[in-house]
Amino acid sequence: LLQPIVAPSILSADFANLAKECQQVLEAGADWLHVDIMDGNFVDNLTIGPPVVKSLRKHIPSAYFDCHLMVKDPFKWVKVFSQAGASGYTFHLEAVEPNPNNWSKTSPRVTSLCEDIRYHGMKVGISIKPDTPWQALESYISADLVDVVLIMTVQPGFGGQKFIPETVSKVASLRKRFPKLNIEVDGGIAPDTIQQVAKAGANIAVAGSAIFGSDDRQRVISILKETLKA
Ligand code: DX5
Ligand code: ZN
Repeated sequence: LLQPIVAPSILSADFANLAKECQQVLEAGADWLHVDIMDGNFVDNLTIGPPVVKSLRKHIPSAYFDCHLMVKDPFKWVKVFSQAGASGYTFHLEAVEPNPNNWSKTSPRVTSLCEDIRYHGMKVGISIKPDTPWQALESYISADLVDVVLIMTVQPGFGGQKFIPETVSKVASLRKRFPKLNIEVDGGIAPDTIQQVAKAGANIAVAGSAIFGSDDRQRVISILKETLKA
């Protein structure tokens, strides 16, 4: 059964009070904590690394840390993130297979990365950018290598961007093809955009600025959750 999951992106939290911010959104009804890892290379921004996940894990032992790796070499960080306490490890298909001509084939590199993530005890996620077709994920999902797909609904790199509506049809196609797949959406998700992605079939919603920027975080989380359920 598909569970509705709300995952606040801590990129929009107050980094000087990070543990408190995390605890507060969990108390307000959040299910996962979404951690955006950027290496200044795959995207033009630098954010959080393994030591931060490790510290948070110590403060909040029971949390699900949904780590979204926007890095050029996702092979390199699997072990260190598992040791830091990451629960899920989501990498970008485009980082492993930069050539779009290869997206119709099954890449042995992608397959072995998925296997390595599982071997290290984490849930496997593959993410695609707004311009990457959903079919690029098909063979890995069919082969049961993937626990969750993350559909970017903005260009990766920064919080607080505007939702790209053209991404909704990808969610719908994936849901149609894979009725039991965990489909996560990320970027510009807020009470006014959740409805279209939920209707298309997403069951996991990441939201950064909409949650952390609100003075009623509990309310925003519950709107997102109820819309996913509907
Ligand atoms: C963007 C990140 C997102 C981002 C979401 O590259 O992957 O997780 O922080 O932030 P909002 O919800 O503000 O778009
Ligand atoms: Zn993210």
